[in-house]
Amino acid sequence: MRTDTSPLDAEARRILRLNDKGGYTVPTAGLYPYQWNWDSAFAGLGFACFDIDRGWRELETLMSGQWENGMVPHILFHRPDPGYFPGADVWGTEDAPGKGAGRVQSSGISQPPVAASFAWRMYQRDPGPGLARLRAMFPGLMAFHRWFIAARAESGAVAITHPWEAGRDNAPDWDAAMAGITPEGVAPYTRRDTGHVNPRMRPTKEDYDRYIWLVQFGRERGWDDAAIAAESPFRVADPTLTFTLMRACRDLRLAAGVLGEATSEIDGWIAYLEEGAETLWNAETGTYDSRDLCSGQLAGSVSNASFLCWWGGLEDRRSLPVLERVLDAARYGLPSFDPGDPKFDPLRYWRGPVWGVMNMIAGVGMAEQGLTAQAERIRADTARLIAENGFAEYFSPEDGTPAGGATFTWTAAIWLAWASPSAGEG
Ligand code: DGY
Repeated sequence: MRTDTSPLDAEARRILRLNDKGGYTVPTAGLYPYQWNWDSAFAGLGFACFDIDRGWRELETLMSGQWENGMVPHILFHRPDPGYFPGADVWGTEDAPGKGAGRVQSSGISQPPVAASFAWRMYQRDPGPGLARLRAMFPGLMAFHRWFIAARAESGAVAITHPWEAGRDNAPDWDAAMAGITPEGVAPYTRRDTGHVNPRMRPTKEDYDRYIWLVQFGRERGWDDAAIAAESPFRVADPTLTFTLMRACRDLRLAAGVLGEATSEIDGWIAYLEEGAETLWNAETGTYDSRDLCSGQLAGSVSNASFLCWWGGLEDRRSLPVLERVLDAARYGLPSFDPGDPKFDPLRYWRGPVWGVMNMIAGVGMAEQGLTAQAERIRADTARLIAENGFAEYFSPEDGTPAGGATFTWTAAIWLAWASPSAGEG
C-alpha cells in the first residue's frame, strides 16, 4: 500500500472520495451525475492504490448493472438527477428484452471494456483477497466480452452503434457517418451539459441532434442488437473498442489461468480481433483508423485511439513515425486528434484535447512494447498537465488549458495509478 503523501496524491485521493456516492463514483458532480462504465473502471483502479476493497467494490457495482444478454451499459442511473440529459426516461430500456427484469436503470449501449484489464491489475496488486473477487467477477466478464464479439464484431473489428459507445463522443472519426443521419423526429430537448461547461468545449448542436436521434432509434427497436445492426445508418468499427477489448481479452485470459478456467474461447476471441484489427489499418495515414461499416470507408482520422494498438498487445511498429510526428506537433501529448489536420480543435472535447485516461493506456501499451521514450514522454506530459492545471477532464495540447469538468474522477485515478511519481506504473 502506498505511503506517499505528496499534495497531488492527497488531492487525487480527496477527489475520488468526493465523487464517491457509496459503491460507485460519479465522473464529476453536475456534468456527469451517474455511474459511467469506463470512468468507473478507472475509478476502481485509482481507489485500489489506497483502498483495494473500495476499488473492487466499484467494479462490482458496475457489473451489477450487467444486462441478461451480457452487455454492461455505459451509464447506470442509480438515482435520478435532473441535471443530466438524456436520463433514463429518454433511453427507455426498462422493457428491453436483452436487459432482464429487476436491474438498475441504464442506457442501452456500452463503452470501452477496460473492466477486465483493471480487475486483473487489482488482483495483481493484492492477490490474496483479490482471488475470490476475481473469481466472482469472472463469469460476468466472460459474458460481457462474449456479448461484444456477438453483437458488435461482425467485421472482425468492434463497431459502435452510437458515438458515446466509443467514449470519444465527437471524434472526427464519425463525421462522415453522422452526416448521413437526417435527425428528423427528434423530440424537443434541452441540453444540460452546456449549463455546466463552456459550450466551446462540448459537442455541437448538430452532434447532439444526432446523438438523441440514435437513442430514439435504438429505443424504437427495443435495444435489439440484431435489429439495430441491420437497420441503423450509423455503424462504425473503431480502434478504441477493438483495442480495449483485445487487451481485456488478454487480461481475462491471464485471470482464467490463475482461476483454472478454460482459455480456448478467449484465445479464439483474441485471434479473431487480431485479424479484425487489420481492417482498421489505413495505409494512407499510416495508422489504425475507424471504418464506417455502412459505406465501407475509412475515416482518415489520426486520433489518440490510433495508438492503442500497443495496449491491445500488437507488436506493430508501422504507426511509430506518425506517433512521433503527432507528439512533435503538440506541446503536450497525446492530442486526441492530429494537430496537423484542419479539423483539429484544441478545446473541443475529442477533437484535439489531451485525455489522461487515453494517455495512460496508450503509454502503458507503448512501454510494454519497448517504446520506452515515447511512453515516458506521454507520462511526463500528463504529470505536467495535472501538476500545472489540476485534475481537469481534459486539457489543451497547445497550452494546457484545463477543459470540461473539474475535480475529475478518472484524471485523479490515472494520476494515482500511473502519472504520479509514486505510482511506479508503466
Ligand atoms: C455525455 O453526456 O457527454 C456523455 O459522454 C455520454 O456518455
